[in-house]
Amino acid sequence: MPLVYLNGEFKALKDASISVLDRGFTFGDGVYEVVPVFNKTIFRFEEHIQRLERSLAAIYMDNPLSKNEWLSIFTKLIESIDHTEQSIYLQITRGITARDHDISLAEEPTVFVMSRPIEKNSYSEGIKAITHEDIRWQYCNVKAITLLPSVLLRHRAKLQGANEAILIRDGVVTEGAASNIFICVDGQVITPIKDNRVLPGITRDLILEIMVDNNIKCVESSIDSGLLNNADEIWLTSSTWEIAPVIELDDKKIGTGKPGPVWQKINRLYQDFKRNYCN
Ligand code: PDD
Repeated sequence: MPLVYLNGEFKALKDASISVLDRGFTFGDGVYEVVPVFNKTIFRFEEHIQRLERSLAAIYMDNPLSKNEWLSIFTKLIESIDHTEQSIYLQITRGITARDHDISLAEEPTVFVMSRPIEKNSYSEGIKAITHEDIRWQYCNVKAITLLPSVLLRHRAKLQGANEAILIRDGVVTEGAASNIFICVDGQVITPIKDNRVLPGITRDLILEIMVDNNIKCVESSIDSGLLNNADEIWLTSSTWEIAPVIELDDKKIGTGKPGPVWQKINRLYQDFKRNYCN
């Protein structure tokens, strides 16, 4: 039976419930992680736990569990599901208090973890994106559960027949609503620097690592919206999408309208890395 974890207990999803006074519900006061599982192996566990630590610290919370405790929870949940490809979702909120902004009232955090099969998708054949003003807050480096702007941005993309919104803040490209961005211009791969406008994506960092290991140059620098429009290739990356090539932006073809040659190469290297890591 698929299990979920809630505050120290494993149970069926239908039996997992929390108080309406949980600050996750009343304030969106919490952080989360999405950790991919390929071939039943947790991919880049250490990196995800480190990012979780940084998100927690940014909202004045301690990590309620040790690394080993996280690992054993993940392992038990993964084993409770047949699928080899899964994504673990974990969420930590500041817990249950009176509805009061004061965070010092909080005592016990709420910890929830579930794992779900990763649905088969055809993203490697190319996806469509729109551009949109980045309407999110100033701490996009924190993986906060407060995701209403991102939800609205994804919806705007969907209304225009696209999969993702590429966000522009003050004329500069930041990332996708739930993905990081790479562009390729005249053979040069560029991705925005990691600052408060961008989630430090685990997939993004891995791609940079793979490129360095294979002597392929990638520049971390700001991308203005004009450069985005001149890109030969655009890729959007996340733990569940992996590296998705964008073939249409705002109804205009990118490159030839098919996944480009640089994407083919990097995606092959990424898939090789993954296969080695998860066998
Ligand atoms: N989102 N940027 C944002 C705003 C994201 O929400 C995500 C991932 C990424 C990619 O990060 P990573 O490579 O570590 O998955 C970048 C997850 C998948 C989500 O919210 O479901």
